[in-house]
Amino acid sequence: MLDLPRHLLQSTAAAAEMAAGQPPAGLLHPLEETQLAELRLPRRRRHWLIGRWAAKHLLHTYLAETLAAAPALSQILIANDPRGAPYAALAAAQPAFPPQRLPLSLSISHTGHWGLAALCPQQTAAVGADIEQVTRLEPRLVEAICTPGELAQVRARPHDQQDLLITALWSGKEAALKALGAGLSGGIRQIDCTLPAEPPAGEWAELGLDAARDLLAGLAGARFRAWQRLEGEFVITLALLATAETGA
Ligand SMILES: CC(C)(COP(=O)(O)OP(=O)(O)OC[C@H]1O[C@@H](n2cnc3c(N)ncnc32)[C@H](O)[C@@H]1OP(=O)(O)O)[C@@H](O)C(=O)NCCC(=O)NCCS
Repeated sequence: MLDLPRHLLQSTAAAAEMAAGQPPAGLLHPLEETQLAELRLPRRRRHWLIGRWAAKHLLHTYLAETLAAAPALSQILIANDPRGAPYAALAAAQPAFPPQRLPLSLSISHTGHWGLAALCPQQTAAVGADIEQVTRLEPRLVEAICTPGELAQVRARPHDQQDLLITALWSGKEAALKALGAGLSGGIRQIDCTLPAEPPAGEWAELGLDAARDLLAGLAGARFRAWQRLEGEFVITLALLATAETGA
């Protein structure tokens, strides 16, 4: 059974240093400090930090419930695989031992002052999280990212909902591509969304998600569940991808 995954939405207002691209004391592992030092652009530093802040606080709460003792935030290491997908590891108290990767699926998204993180146990599903500001996209871009079925759904809705619905489709596709671990290289049109009857609002509503067969090759029994809601001017999507192997 796939239920709404654990998630945490945080703003840079949680720690003022982050808005200036500086790490709050006690947040980062030494390996992460090295990684941050390589990020030059203030916007990228801010986004990277608020993403880590949200992910580490989410993991801290989860680990406090599942382990005998909750680790310090700086013991929780967030790294990215070669395709960019994030994963979490736990640093040992003895620096001589390498951090141990946790059996969790983790996803991160950031935009503006928001950082969003979601997780689920790896044996349950893979998780994808996305937050997007509602914006008006050029018609040519809309046609480039939407499938004919998605375009038909949007065009059947009232004109004043179009920007919100297109942002909802974009966010749904990104969350699905993140759950697949593919990122945008997976092909935004390879994901097909079915919008709920009402546009995203304050409460979670389920969004239909499917992916082209090529993207699901090797993933027997793959199926998605996804939820969306609106936070001010931002659409938030959480997606789960279960397979025969994950068994949920
Ligand atoms: C993943 C992607 C769809 C994110 O879209 P976005 O709207 O620009 O950014 P978001 O804030 O929503 O998400 C960014 C986060 O997605 C995650 N991410 C990146 N690639 C990912 C992948 N292949 N699968 C799952 N998650 C991924 C990362 O955690 C990243 O944040 P971080 O770099 O601070 O850890 C897009 O950036 C992409 O396709 N990236 C892959 C290509 C790339 O740049 N790879 C970098 C290799 S190091």
